[in-house]
Amino acid sequence: MSKTATLEINNEKYELPVMVGTENEVAIDISSLRTSTKGVITLDPGYKNTGSCESAITFLDGEKGILRYRGYAIEELADKADFLEVAYLLIFGELPNTEQLGKFQTDIKKHSVVDDDVKKIVDAFPKSAHPMGVLSSLTSALTAFNPSSVNVNSEEDMYNAIVRILGKFPVLVAWTMRKKMGLPLDYGDNSLGYVENVLKMMFKQPNEEYKLNPIVVNALDKLLILHADHEQNCSTSTVRITGSSHAGLFVSLAAGVSALWGPLHGGANQAVLEMLEAIKADGGDTKKFMAKAKDKDDPFRLMGFGHRVYKNFDPRAKIIKKAADEVLGDLGVEDPILDIAKGLEKEALEDTYFVDRKLYPNVDFYSGIIYRAMGIPVEMFTVMFALGRLPGWIAQWREMRLNKEPIGRPRQIYTGYTLRPFKTIDKR
Ligand code: SDX
Repeated sequence: MSKTATLEINNEKYELPVMVGTENEVAIDISSLRTSTKGVITLDPGYKNTGSCESAITFLDGEKGILRYRGYAIEELADKADFLEVAYLLIFGELPNTEQLGKFQTDIKKHSVVDDDVKKIVDAFPKSAHPMGVLSSLTSALTAFNPSSVNVNSEEDMYNAIVRILGKFPVLVAWTMRKKMGLPLDYGDNSLGYVENVLKMMFKQPNEEYKLNPIVVNALDKLLILHADHEQNCSTSTVRITGSSHAGLFVSLAAGVSALWGPLHGGANQAVLEMLEAIKADGGDTKKFMAKAKDKDDPFRLMGFGHRVYKNFDPRAKIIKKAADEVLGDLGVEDPILDIAKGLEKEALEDTYFVDRKLYPNVDFYSGIIYRAMGIPVEMFTVMFALGRLPGWIAQWREMRLNKEPIGRPRQIYTGYTLRPFKTIDKR
């Protein structure tokens, strides 16, 4: 691989450094471009061809359908690790030993209470509020109750902020759901594991013991692992660029929650279920909806299909599809929506429109079917995505800050009016 790339513009030649990553990805380093060419920049709407950073956290190969966290294959992690181990791996770079995992879990439990005044913010929301809007607000509000977590300039400050948010975020997740269901806002049980505690906080009825179902615990643990990080996706890039201004960790995460809400991103898991329900209500005619997805004049898209990076199967979708069969079978849940989803997938994988555009099921296509079987309301699906993505966002934010990356500030190509004189109102 050559060490430089030559750019010729206005009869001038410029040598730009070429860098090669550990997985042989190649990038042209354009950080000196504007200076050396006296003002020329690149343009790349949606950053489809532009790297924003160097990162050692997650590797994707979209053509081969590969996903690895810190070098470990997602298939192995989903099968052999638990969510807290994966969170530690993503954030600190190595799988924890027994002592490290024990300390991490203890430190997180120490911070699994949220200031009671935060309940006043939850109370102020209407029951109709979408949980993602509530979650983003509560995450941002946590800064006010934990001011020491704003200026994380030392590793110690950063660690304390990290275990704080890992302890408190699941409480906020539970409270967003309990608000919608009219249930009292209470706390979990530190004698339980991380994921078990999440389920108890979400589902415990005030007047009865909550019985944990190991099938549900394992399914949620696996789903959270599969959602934990995904390199520079829309919400992670939002977390990084927000943190690059030296805004605190919690508000950077709140920005990530907001970005994830969009139906083209994490909001797709809710949109998939709504789409499948609409197909079922319409008599199950998947061909009609396939035609709508292919019609350029119809804004309808096949939600849960397609991906900016994966031009092959999303490896997470494969694991989740298998888990959906297992979980629904183990729970004895018959869900016709799963059959509609499988029918839609089969048709799309045989349809030239989807095949030519390399549109495959992504992480969001089957996840909602499992969440629903677990009794999670559809408006909470993206909140569950955020809970899974939390350690990835934290890891990426920490890497950005440890690498002392500059504030993110893209340029633009101006296409508006050139200079023109002010017009008095009588002349407009
Ligand atoms: C996530 O980036 C990540 O890593 C995200 C994520 C993560 O873990 O963080 O993986 C999570 O966000 C998964 C994606 C969830 N979103 C959806 O399922 C929404 C439906 N999918 C699409 O909107 C779309 O596929 C995107 C947004 C996911 C990707 O869009 P791109 O890469 O910008 O591709 P594009 O819009 O340029 O589409 C290319 C072509 C277009 O047709 P042509 O103009 O070439 O004729 O494919 C078509 C699109 O119209 N197309 C679809 C389609 N997705 C793309 N047509 C119908 N249905 C779809 N779902």
